[in-house]
Amino acid sequence: MARRITIFDTTLRDGEQCPGASLTPAEKVEIARQLARLGVDVIEGGFPIASPGDAQAVKLIAQAVKGPVIAALARSLAADIEAAAASLKSAKRRRIHVFLATSPIHRKYKLRKAREEILRQAVWAVKYAKRYSHDVEFSPEDASRTEPAFLHQVIEAVIKAGATTVNIPDTVGFAIPEEFGRLIKGITEEVPNIHRATISVHCHNDLGLSVPNSLAAIANGAGQVECTINGIGERAGNASLEEIVMSLRIRADFYRATTGIDTTQIYKTSRLVSSLTGIVVQPNKAIVGGNAFAHESGIHQDGILKHRQTYEIMRPQDVGVGESKLVLGKLSGRHAFARRLSALGFRLPKDELDRAFARFKVLADKKKEIFDEDLAAIVEDELPAAQEVYKLVYVHITSGSETVPTATIRLSEARSAKEGKILQDSACGDGPVDACYKTINRMTGLSPQLLAYSVHSVTRGKEALGEAMVKLRYRETEVMGRGTSTDIIEASAKAYVNAMNRLLAQTPSRARRSLHP
Ligand code: KIV
Ligand code: ZN
Repeated sequence: MARRITIFDTTLRDGEQCPGASLTPAEKVEIARQLARLGVDVIEGGFPIASPGDAQAVKLIAQAVKGPVIAALARSLAADIEAAAASLKSAKRRRIHVFLATSPIHRKYKLRKAREEILRQAVWAVKYAKRYSHDVEFSPEDASRTEPAFLHQVIEAVIKAGATTVNIPDTVGFAIPEEFGRLIKGITEEVPNIHRATISVHCHNDLGLSVPNSLAAIANGAGQVECTINGIGERAGNASLEEIVMSLRIRADFYRATTGIDTTQIYKTSRLVSSLTGIVVQPNKAIVGGNAFAHESGIHQDGILKHRQTYEIMRPQDVGVGESKLVLGKLSGRHAFARRLSALGFRLPKDELDRAFARFKVLADKKKEIFDEDLAAIVEDELPAAQEVYKLVYVHITSGSETVPTATIRLSEARSAKEGKILQDSACGDGPVDACYKTINRMTGLSPQLLAYSVHSVTRGKEALGEAMVKLRYRETEVMGRGTSTDIIEASAKAYVNAMNRLLAQTPSRARRSLHP
């Protein structure tokens, strides 16, 4: 009989540690709701001691999201555990996740503690967390570089202290599958009380092995995997949820394990996380990349038409991706448009659907073929940003070899006390995009540093939607912004305004007032 693997999603905690991926509490709640629809078993909402925003996000998720267990991270310290417990108070099902590094390098240089002290502190932390939650997970950080005998000793002691899950992190992505599988097997064989807890794994992707390592662990007795949507996370990221889940499903003959995931929600969840974090999914990414179900070669297309399984091991519909890339054109009506969006997993209220349909018609007039990616980009652009202060209303550029590039921009103050107020200004720049950004800086009173700027086309054809991405830094805060349009200058201005809104959402209102005389 197939084993049921617990899916612990850490997109909102470790995933958010991805550089530039900071999310507001409202955005985190939106993602958490979608994770619940996806069917994850545990949602790690954040690290409450790390910032008031994280504490608030966990609190809001605990109040709003029913179904999955809600977890919060804590170091093995009283203040951390108390902060986690306070944020989780209203969760129907809660988990406190405590961690403490155990490897020689962390003991010597980071913690400056001997093995005995680490052991004592880990046991103390689990007992302390047990006062607030019967469900306690313990992670010996950098477990894969810890001496196995000491690791076994720590695991046995924390289970005795009450840990219900012991998580084995490959914190720096150092492990390789055969070795990591053996580590998990060793734990099942050598730790006498291991049957009283679930073994979990948490693999980072520094060598591109996070998914193979997680799967090797499952094959060797792990009952829980920690993973993130699109594999986002610290440095090279975490194991990707969609790759693990689909590997278990497609190779059920080998793993004999199932999950509670509704795989048809995968694509929608991937798009939501990408759009709110600003982290683009690479086209060749397994399962959710734009090319994952695209067949270019004539031989492959012929094979697919004769028998789909010649070149496809799963159906795009199984992960919520529409079958056909060529879906709608300018003669398509509202009904067909709404149906297609619904097949892609987007259910919009009437006003958002109206706005998205109007944009679809404008695009369909310019572009012969409308692809699913175009539709997803239109919808994401129309969804109101969680903390939208400014909205781009109009952009006009004068530029040319004999002209100083000049931008005229109109912004509306979308969700402020001055709702509906229209601002307009102009400025010159070194090029049209620079002129836009200088104008927006003047209008918003912020002059962030532009760390990165890129434009790429979302789909094919000369009228394809262009997607601009910017990365801005203002004081200590770094944010990403994204915007789409068939006009790349407009896409660039939208991306900049989107990033500005994120900056303003993260700038305390007192500091903001001083920027707006
Ligand atoms: O990578 C890691 O070790 C972690 C722990 C806190 C589980 O994220
Ligand atoms: Zn991690």
